Amino acid sequence: MSSTEKPLSQAIRERRATPSFDGAAIPNKDLKKILEAGLHAPSGYNMQPWRFIVVRDAEQKRRLRGASFNQAKVEEASVMIVACGDADGWRNGDLEEMLRLGRQGGMSESYAAQAKETIPNYLSNHPNMPMWLNRHVMIAFTHMLLTAETLGYDTAPMEGFEEEKVREVLKLPLSYHVVALLGIGHLKGADKHDGGRFEMSRVVFDEEYGKRMRL
Ligand SMILES: Cc1cc2nc3c(=O)[nH]c(=O)nc-3n(C[C@H](O)[C@H](O)[C@H](O)COP(=O)(O)O)c2cc1C
Repeated sequence: MSSTEKPLSQAIRERRATPSFDGAAIPNKDLKKILEAGLHAPSGYNMQPWRFIVVRDAEQKRRLRGASFNQAKVEEASVMIVACGDADGWRNGDLEEMLRLGRQGGMSESYAAQAKETIPNYLSNHPNMPMWLNRHVMIAFTHMLLTAETLGYDTAPMEGFEEEKVREVLKLPLSYHVVALLGIGHLKGADKHDGGRFEMSRVVFDEEYGKRMRL
């Protein structure tokens, strides 16, 4: 891989959902950068409920393809990252670890004491845990996707999978929700067409719904 990274703005402009990959391996140092970018994502209370299964083994990719409506790119990608959220992480040590790291970084004891009460209350009564997980996991996912693009890789986000089948292939605990799949590698053949994007006037409002944004 070239040592010069693409500027983020260029990566965003040029990115396409890759239709097909050539399967060439990704060096560990690049994979590490991509994963670390995801782990730096923000999350509510810094609870980091994301979990990622990295699939590189050919046989495991073949099985994952079988759980993903037979999408060929799942098997062709150099790396498949299966992005999950753990509904029970906060019960199983994440809260303590978040507080430990926070204290290291200067979190006050009064904040820590409050968080120890507030977070379990909030999460044990959360009205929509899958949505809460999804919200966080997709931010980390996007950090990874864009970092891969800045490093010169091509990426494919995927929601075409059957959760129960993925769960079986990856031997996931029951508390894990599968949120999305991310294929990373190098494009093989022609790229997908640019599907275009809605005008700002259609999807952005100024101050209140219906008021046109003019910039
Ligand atoms: C969360 C998400 C899930 C997607 N799932 C699939 C998928 O399962 N299979 C696929 O071929 N493309 C999938 N796509 C790619 C979209 O079709 C693609 O992003 C969209 O058509 C816009 O094209 P572009 O990304 O090249 O601009 C997915 C994209 C996102 C963001």
